[in-house]
Amino acid sequence: MIKKCLFPVAGYGTRFLPATKAMPKEILPILDKPLVQYGVEEAFAAGLTDIGFVTGRGKRAIEDHFDTSYELEHQIAGTGKEKMLEGIRELIEHCTFSYTRQVKMSGLGDAILAGRTVIGDEPFAVVLADDLCMGPDDGVLAQMVKLFKQFRCSIVAIEEVPQDETNKYGVISGEELSENLFRVTDMVEKPDPEDAPSNLAIIGRYILTPDIFDIIEQTPPGKNGEVQITDALLQQAKDGCVIAYKFKGRRFDCGSVQGFVEATNYCYENIYLKK
Ligand code: G1P
Repeated sequence: MIKKCLFPVAGYGTRFLPATKAMPKEILPILDKPLVQYGVEEAFAAGLTDIGFVTGRGKRAIEDHFDTSYELEHQIAGTGKEKMLEGIRELIEHCTFSYTRQVKMSGLGDAILAGRTVIGDEPFAVVLADDLCMGPDDGVLAQMVKLFKQFRCSIVAIEEVPQDETNKYGVISGEELSENLFRVTDMVEKPDPEDAPSNLAIIGRYILTPDIFDIIEQTPPGKNGEVQITDALLQQAKDGCVIAYKFKGRRFDCGSVQGFVEATNYCYENIYLKK
Protein backbone atom coordinates (compact mmCIF):
# COMPACT_ATOMS: atom_id res chain seq x y z
CA MET A 1 0.00 0.00 0.00
CA ILE A 2 2.64 2.54 1.03
CA LYS A 3 5.70 1.66 -0.99
CA LYS A 4 7.75 4.85 -1.08
CA CYS A 5 10.03 6.37 1.48
CA LEU A 6 11.80 9.70 1.12
CA PHE A 7 15.13 10.52 2.77
CA PRO A 8 16.03 14.22 2.77
CA VAL A 9 19.84 14.07 2.90
CA ALA A 10 20.96 17.36 1.40
CA GLY A 11 21.91 18.96 4.76
CA TYR A 12 25.52 19.96 5.38
CA GLY A 13 25.95 18.27 8.76
CA THR A 14 27.69 21.31 10.22
CA ARG A 15 27.30 20.00 13.78
CA PHE A 16 29.78 17.26 12.91
CA LEU A 17 32.55 19.29 11.32
CA PRO A 18 35.28 18.52 10.52
CA ALA A 19 34.07 14.89 10.10
CA THR A 20 31.49 15.99 7.53
CA LYS A 21 33.76 18.28 5.54
CA ALA A 22 34.26 15.75 2.74
CA MET A 23 31.86 13.00 3.84
CA PRO A 24 28.06 13.03 4.09
CA LYS A 25 26.90 12.94 7.72
CA GLU A 26 24.53 10.12 6.76
CA ILE A 27 27.54 7.90 6.06
CA LEU A 28 29.01 8.34 9.55
CA PRO A 29 28.91 4.87 11.07
CA ILE A 30 27.20 3.71 14.22
CA LEU A 31 29.61 0.83 14.88
CA ASP A 32 30.12 -0.75 11.46
CA LYS A 33 27.07 0.56 9.61
CA PRO A 34 26.32 4.00 8.15
CA LEU A 35 23.53 5.91 9.84
CA VAL A 36 21.46 6.05 6.67
CA GLN A 37 21.49 2.25 6.31
CA TYR A 38 19.68 1.90 9.63
CA GLY A 39 16.95 4.17 8.26
CA VAL A 40 16.64 2.25 4.98
CA GLU A 41 16.52 -1.05 6.89
CA GLU A 42 13.68 0.36 9.01
CA ALA A 43 11.81 1.39 5.84
CA PHE A 44 12.37 -2.02 4.24
CA ALA A 45 11.13 -3.77 7.39
CA ALA A 46 7.94 -1.70 7.09
CA GLY A 47 7.44 -2.92 3.50
CA LEU A 48 8.70 0.27 1.85
CA THR A 49 10.91 -0.71 -1.06
CA ASP A 50 10.95 2.42 -3.28
CA ILE A 51 13.59 4.52 -1.61
CA GLY A 52 14.02 8.13 -2.74
CA PHE A 53 16.78 10.50 -1.67
CA VAL A 54 16.64 14.26 -1.86
CA THR A 55 20.32 14.82 -2.13
CA GLY A 56 22.81 17.58 -2.78
CA ARG A 57 26.40 18.35 -3.60
CA GLY A 58 29.00 16.19 -1.87
CA LYS A 59 26.61 13.33 -1.15
CA ARG A 60 27.66 10.88 -3.80
CA ALA A 61 28.92 8.34 -1.24
CA ILE A 62 25.26 7.62 -0.43
CA GLU A 63 24.60 6.55 -4.02
CA ASP A 64 27.69 4.37 -4.03
CA HIS A 65 26.68 2.78 -0.74
CA PHE A 66 23.35 1.60 -2.13
CA ASP A 67 24.92 0.07 -5.21
CA THR A 68 27.01 -3.01 -5.87
CA SER A 69 30.76 -2.59 -5.72
CA TYR A 70 32.01 -5.21 -8.15
CA GLU A 71 35.68 -4.77 -7.23
CA LEU A 72 34.86 -5.31 -3.57
CA GLU A 73 32.59 -8.28 -4.29
CA HIS A 74 35.39 -9.85 -6.33
CA GLN A 75 37.93 -9.18 -3.60
CA ILE A 76 36.01 -10.81 -0.77
CA ALA A 77 34.22 -13.58 -2.71
CA GLY A 78 34.51 -16.87 -0.82
CA THR A 79 35.98 -15.27 2.33
CA GLY A 80 34.43 -14.91 5.77
CA LYS A 81 33.97 -11.20 5.10
CA GLU A 82 31.07 -11.79 2.74
CA LYS A 83 28.66 -12.01 5.63
CA MET A 84 29.48 -8.41 6.57
CA LEU A 85 27.77 -7.31 3.36
CA GLU A 86 24.65 -9.45 3.79
CA GLY A 87 22.47 -6.61 5.12
CA ILE A 88 23.32 -4.10 2.41
CA ARG A 89 23.11 -6.77 -0.32
CA GLU A 90 19.58 -7.59 0.78
CA LEU A 91 18.54 -3.94 0.52
CA ILE A 92 20.13 -3.57 -2.92
CA GLU A 93 18.38 -6.72 -4.11
CA HIS A 94 14.89 -5.84 -2.88
CA CYS A 95 14.72 -2.04 -3.04
CA THR A 96 15.02 0.55 -5.77
CA PHE A 97 16.92 3.78 -5.13
CA SER A 98 16.12 7.09 -6.80
CA TYR A 99 17.84 10.43 -6.38
CA THR A 100 16.86 14.00 -6.96
CA ARG A 101 18.74 17.11 -5.96
CA GLN A 102 17.64 19.94 -3.74
CA VAL A 103 19.33 22.83 -5.48
CA LYS A 104 18.84 25.43 -2.78
CA MET A 105 18.58 24.62 0.95
CA SER A 106 15.45 26.22 2.30
CA GLY A 107 14.03 23.98 4.95
CA LEU A 108 12.58 20.51 5.42
CA GLY A 109 9.30 21.49 3.72
CA ASP A 110 11.23 22.56 0.66
CA ALA A 111 13.32 19.36 0.72
CA ILE A 112 10.17 17.23 0.81
CA LEU A 113 8.66 19.25 -2.04
CA ALA A 114 11.81 18.54 -4.06
CA GLY A 115 10.96 14.85 -3.65
CA ARG A 116 7.64 15.25 -5.46
CA THR A 117 9.04 13.95 -8.75
CA VAL A 118 10.15 10.68 -7.15
CA ILE A 119 6.98 10.27 -5.06
CA GLY A 120 4.19 11.27 -7.43
CA ASP A 121 0.60 11.07 -6.25
CA GLU A 122 0.62 8.51 -3.45
CA PRO A 123 1.08 8.42 0.31
CA PHE A 124 4.71 8.07 1.39
CA ALA A 125 6.96 7.98 4.41
CA VAL A 126 9.74 10.42 5.30
CA VAL A 127 12.76 9.41 7.37
CA LEU A 128 15.27 11.85 8.82
CA ALA A 129 18.26 9.56 9.13
CA ASP A 130 19.71 11.65 12.00
CA ASP A 131 17.01 10.25 14.24
CA LEU A 132 18.02 6.65 14.80
CA CYS A 133 15.06 4.65 16.09
CA MET A 134 15.15 1.26 17.71
CA GLY A 135 11.83 -0.45 18.25
CA PRO A 136 11.21 -3.29 20.69
CA ASP A 137 9.65 -5.47 17.95
CA ASP A 138 8.32 -3.51 15.00
CA GLY A 139 10.35 -0.51 13.92
CA VAL A 140 8.72 2.90 14.20
CA LEU A 141 7.81 3.06 10.50
CA ALA A 142 6.17 -0.37 10.63
CA GLN A 143 4.08 0.85 13.57
CA MET A 144 3.09 3.95 11.60
CA VAL A 145 2.22 2.03 8.42
CA LYS A 146 -0.22 -0.05 10.48
CA LEU A 147 -1.81 3.13 11.79
CA PHE A 148 -2.07 4.60 8.31
CA LYS A 149 -4.23 1.65 7.27
CA GLN A 150 -6.62 2.70 10.01
CA PHE A 151 -6.60 6.50 9.65
CA ARG A 152 -5.62 7.18 6.01
CA CYS A 153 -4.19 10.58 6.82
CA SER A 154 -0.78 12.05 7.58
CA ILE A 155 0.91 10.75 10.73
CA VAL A 156 3.84 12.14 12.71
CA ALA A 157 5.84 10.25 15.32
CA ILE A 158 6.21 12.09 18.61
CA GLU A 159 7.92 11.70 21.95
CA GLU A 160 7.96 13.64 25.20
CA VAL A 161 11.00 15.87 25.57
CA PRO A 162 12.16 18.00 28.51
CA GLN A 163 10.28 21.32 28.43
CA ASP A 164 13.50 23.29 27.97
CA GLU A 165 14.22 21.44 24.70
CA THR A 166 11.08 22.35 22.78
CA ASN A 167 13.08 24.83 20.71
CA LYS A 168 14.83 21.94 18.95
CA TYR A 169 11.66 20.36 17.54
CA GLY A 170 8.28 20.75 15.95
CA VAL A 171 5.87 20.55 18.88
CA ILE A 172 2.23 19.46 18.72
CA SER A 173 -0.85 19.63 20.84
CA GLY A 174 -3.95 17.62 20.19
CA GLU A 175 -7.01 15.81 21.29
CA GLU A 176 -6.11 12.44 22.82
CA LEU A 177 -7.95 9.73 20.89
CA SER A 178 -6.57 6.78 22.83
CA GLU A 179 -3.37 5.88 24.60
CA ASN A 180 -0.43 7.22 22.52
CA LEU A 181 -2.67 8.68 19.78
CA PHE A 182 -3.58 12.32 19.25
CA ARG A 183 -5.54 14.19 16.63
CA VAL A 184 -3.39 17.26 16.03
CA THR A 185 -4.98 20.64 16.74
CA ASP A 186 -1.83 22.76 16.90
CA MET A 187 1.74 22.45 15.75
CA VAL A 188 4.62 24.91 16.14
CA GLU A 189 8.15 24.72 14.75
CA LYS A 190 10.85 25.05 17.41
CA PRO A 191 8.90 27.15 19.95
CA ASP A 192 10.59 28.64 23.00
CA PRO A 193 9.58 26.64 26.09
CA GLU A 194 7.16 29.35 27.26
CA ASP A 195 5.36 29.34 23.89
CA ALA A 196 5.28 25.56 23.37
CA PRO A 197 1.78 24.04 23.20
CA SER A 198 3.08 20.90 25.00
CA ASN A 199 6.28 18.91 25.36
CA LEU A 200 5.28 16.42 22.63
CA ALA A 201 8.00 16.74 20.00
CA ILE A 202 7.92 15.50 16.43
CA ILE A 203 10.78 13.17 15.63
CA GLY A 204 12.07 12.33 12.17
CA ARG A 205 9.40 9.89 11.02
CA TYR A 206 6.39 10.99 8.97
CA ILE A 207 3.75 9.43 6.79
CA LEU A 208 2.35 12.05 4.44
CA THR A 209 -0.57 12.04 2.04
CA PRO A 210 0.33 13.53 -1.34
CA ASP A 211 -1.89 16.62 -1.00
CA ILE A 212 0.92 17.84 1.26
CA PHE A 213 2.88 18.89 -1.86
CA ASP A 214 0.31 21.50 -2.93
CA ILE A 215 0.08 22.67 0.67
CA ILE A 216 3.87 23.08 0.92
CA GLU A 217 3.82 25.13 -2.28
CA GLN A 218 1.39 27.52 -0.58
CA THR A 219 3.31 27.60 2.71
CA PRO A 220 5.33 30.79 3.28
CA PRO A 221 8.76 30.59 4.93
CA GLY A 222 8.39 30.24 8.70
CA LYS A 223 10.89 29.66 11.52
CA ASN A 224 14.41 30.75 10.49
CA GLY A 225 13.09 31.94 7.13
CA GLU A 226 12.71 28.32 5.93
CA VAL A 227 9.71 26.46 4.54
CA GLN A 228 8.71 24.21 7.42
CA ILE A 229 6.92 20.87 7.04
CA THR A 230 5.44 21.59 10.47
CA ASP A 231 3.55 24.62 9.08
CA ALA A 232 2.27 22.64 6.08
CA LEU A 233 1.12 19.84 8.40
CA LEU A 234 -0.75 22.30 10.60
CA GLN A 235 -2.65 23.45 7.51
CA GLN A 236 -3.42 19.84 6.67
CA ALA A 237 -4.59 19.25 10.24
CA LYS A 238 -6.93 22.24 10.00
CA ASP A 239 -8.36 21.18 6.62
CA GLY A 240 -8.63 17.49 7.47
CA CYS A 241 -6.77 15.30 9.89
CA VAL A 242 -3.23 14.69 11.10
CA ILE A 243 -2.45 12.04 13.69
CA ALA A 244 0.44 12.22 16.17
CA TYR A 245 1.66 8.89 17.47
CA LYS A 246 3.76 8.32 20.57
CA PHE A 247 5.78 5.42 19.17
CA LYS A 248 7.12 2.39 21.00
CA GLY A 249 10.88 2.24 21.12
CA ARG A 250 13.88 4.50 21.59
CA ARG A 251 15.17 7.31 19.50
CA PHE A 252 18.66 8.77 19.42
CA ASP A 253 19.41 12.23 18.07
CA CYS A 254 22.46 11.31 16.03
CA GLY A 255 22.67 14.87 14.75
CA SER A 256 24.32 15.68 18.09
CA VAL A 257 27.58 14.24 19.37
CA GLN A 258 25.94 13.15 22.64
CA GLY A 259 23.09 11.32 20.86
CA PHE A 260 25.56 9.75 18.48
CA VAL A 261 27.66 8.38 21.34
CA GLU A 262 24.53 7.12 23.15
CA ALA A 263 23.37 5.35 19.99
CA THR A 264 26.81 3.82 19.54
CA ASN A 265 26.86 2.49 23.10
CA TYR A 266 23.29 1.21 22.81
CA CYS A 267 24.02 -0.63 19.55
CA TYR A 268 27.27 -2.03 20.93
CA GLU A 269 25.52 -3.48 23.98
CA ASN A 270 22.27 -4.57 22.35
CA ILE A 271 23.28 -5.59 18.85
CA TYR A 272 27.02 -6.04 18.50
CA LEU A 273 27.66 -8.04 21.69
CA LYS A 274 24.62 -10.23 20.99
CA LYS A 275 25.63 -11.20 17.45
C1 G1P B 1 13.25 18.84 11.78
C2 G1P B 1 11.82 19.39 11.82
C3 G1P B 1 11.29 19.39 13.25
C4 G1P B 1 11.41 17.99 13.84
C5 G1P B 1 12.86 17.49 13.74
C6 G1P B 1 12.97 16.04 14.17
O1 G1P B 1 14.10 19.76 12.41
O2 G1P B 1 11.81 20.70 11.26
O3 G1P B 1 9.95 19.80 13.26
O4 G1P B 1 11.00 18.02 15.20
O5 G1P B 1 13.34 17.56 12.38
O6 G1P B 1 14.30 15.60 14.19
P1 G1P B 1 15.72 19.70 12.27
O7 G1P B 1 16.19 18.72 13.28
O8 G1P B 1 16.00 19.28 10.87
O9 G1P B 1 16.17 21.10 12.56
